[in-house]
Amino acid sequence: MKNKDKFNLNYLEQISNKPKVFSYSDRRGFWDDKYISKKMLEAHLNPYLDAASRKYQTIKKSCKWMVESLELKKGDSLIDLGCGPGLYLNELYNYGLNLTGIDYSKRSIEYAKEYSNKNNIDIKYLYKDYLTLDYSGKFNVATLIYYDFGCFKKSDVKKLLKIINSLLKKNGYFVFDVQTPYYTDLKEERSNWQVCNGGFFSPNKYLELQNKYYYPEYETRLNQHIIIEDNGYIKEYRLWHKHYTLERIKTLLNKSNFKIKKVYSNLLGSKYNKTSKELGIIAQKK
Ligand SMILES: C[S@@+](CC[C@H](N)C(=O)[O-])C[C@H]1O[C@@H](n2cnc3c(N)ncnc32)[C@H](O)[C@@H]1O
Repeated sequence: MKNKDKFNLNYLEQISNKPKVFSYSDRRGFWDDKYISKKMLEAHLNPYLDAASRKYQTIKKSCKWMVESLELKKGDSLIDLGCGPGLYLNELYNYGLNLTGIDYSKRSIEYAKEYSNKNNIDIKYLYKDYLTLDYSGKFNVATLIYYDFGCFKKSDVKKLLKIINSLLKKNGYFVFDVQTPYYTDLKEERSNWQVCNGGFFSPNKYLELQNKYYYPEYETRLNQHIIIEDNGYIKEYRLWHKHYTLERIKTLLNKSNFKIKKVYSNLLGSKYNKTSKELGIIAQKK
């Protein structure tokens, strides 16, 4: 669907039906939308909110844990995929690392660059889709933080792992987190609607139809938002999320020339157990 199609009931019925698993809407059109990215940046920058980013204190602890557990030294290089406004990179900068951030939200990257300039911080930022990167062999560490690994269909996961593998030096680390099937609270299906007088999706008056779908055979959920503006234009945003078991992750990593070095219950180093709701994974390039 194109994001400028006009409202009509048959069409609405058609687009609010449960879609095929992992049929994307325009992913970039969500993260890089001029208005949505502004609301998203506000959420990233709220230090007390686990929303677009985690709370500031969690980010700080997570960076300390990462540096200590990977035994990173001054000058080691790290690339953060989907860095948002650079909250993790700003913390990691205190450890003397050589840092690169990549994101396709123009607003986040502009904010991150401006923050670096103002604070005399030397971090390289790229406004780019990380699924199109073609660097090779430069980095000691690559990170993908806040469950973004789960947002991709199988072919993109393979592509992403291939790209990350080629970004890393031999024995380099890939650090990421996923939700597991024990994230049970997110599995219910429901639909609701609301009329907003300006909100997260648009500054104008709009009707939002929200459908939450679950695909048990794929352990995947969808949060779909259909936005109908006062002028009749419709936009559709689909946020996909796959829950991964440790076994599935191991298989995927193995096939992509990685091995698991260590697994935790989160990216703070909490002990892993079989019913962990999330996994914090340190993978190593073979
Ligand atoms: C949930 S936010 C997490 C941001 C950051 N990792 C954090 O935890 O603070 C996901 C970020 O990934 C970015 N993103 C998603 N897909 C991307 C892609 N293919 N290429 C570049 N950036 C992407 C979005 O623009 C957004 O800033």
